[in-house]
Amino acid sequence: MEISLQPVAPEQRKTPPPDDQLVFGKIFSDHMFRMDYGEGRWHNPRVVPYGTLEMDPAAMVLHYGQGIFEGLKAYRCADGRIHLFRPLKNMERFNRSARRMCMPEVDVQFHLEAIETLIRLDAAWIPHSVGASLYIRPTMIASEPHLGVRPALEYIHYVITGPVGAYYPEGFNPIKIYVSDQYVRAVRGGVGEAKTMANYAASLYAAEQAKKKGYTQVLWLDAVERRYVEEVGTMNIFFRIDDELVTPPLSGSILPGVTRESVIDLARHWGITVKERPITIDEVIDRIASGDLKEIFGSGTAAVISPVGEVFYKERSYVVQDGKVGEWSRRFHDEIVGIQYGERDDPFGWVHQVKP
Ligand code: COI
Repeated sequence: MEISLQPVAPEQRKTPPPDDQLVFGKIFSDHMFRMDYGEGRWHNPRVVPYGTLEMDPAAMVLHYGQGIFEGLKAYRCADGRIHLFRPLKNMERFNRSARRMCMPEVDVQFHLEAIETLIRLDAAWIPHSVGASLYIRPTMIASEPHLGVRPALEYIHYVITGPVGAYYPEGFNPIKIYVSDQYVRAVRGGVGEAKTMANYAASLYAAEQAKKKGYTQVLWLDAVERRYVEEVGTMNIFFRIDDELVTPPLSGSILPGVTRESVIDLARHWGITVKERPITIDEVIDRIASGDLKEIFGSGTAAVISPVGEVFYKERSYVVQDGKVGEWSRRFHDEIVGIQYGERDDPFGWVHQVKP
């Protein structure tokens, strides 16, 4: 399929904000990619000016939440090259989410080409400083107007982008997380491992309560026993215990993070023992108390590597690593960021250079 281009006139292009004023997800670039699905096929792929989507109020996504998305970033290197980080992983996960939500797949190579076409046109929006990047949000929604509950027959796939800074207001400083034992995010057999909108809606109530108590994020436990640690919702979670790296296994209710996989690959490459094993919140608390648990950090595209300095569970707060950034958090952060911005060797071939 040929992607048609309808560029914004030069005099109507917006000016990107300075890098030091960037926050996450508030500002969008001049263009978006869009294509439509109907009669069993995708058609009319195009890059158009960023703007509103017109939709029938009966569009099925608005009623039954049949929608999925992805998150990846474009990085500008010091020599001007533009990098994506393992983009095919996101394209493949998009299709896994699509299958789970009974939505049509998008050819992974074509999806990547659409993103590259969009980025080339909006290259001026890619920030120049390390730590800032262009966030890319591929999305698919069920657009068919129909109120019966079944998979839609029409969809819109679109990609928007925008320059971003750190996801958390704390930047690369330890965040405080709140363990929810009252509410759950996802249940095994449900849609927790799909990047579908409902998972994020389901997280809001507990997240608001955590915020009121001064915590940045919720650490979710499994939905059945409410004992096993799952993920944070915007990131996967890692524990440094006795100089081994422990992270919950992909049990079906956890998002299979691209950064999570990269941390595991790097750790093994460095000779660190990695255990993907179930870990209970009681073990976490006991090991913080005994001093075996030295660090906690989260991993995600938006969050990158985010150290955790405090855990709140059952009315008590537990400080980790004196509330400071730990050695491993910094090491994983610096290595991943270094690879993304072309400042460090890329032994795994993770970086994808966008053709100029
Ligand atoms: C990402 O890390 O890209 C995410 O999608 C998490 C989020 C901001 C919802």
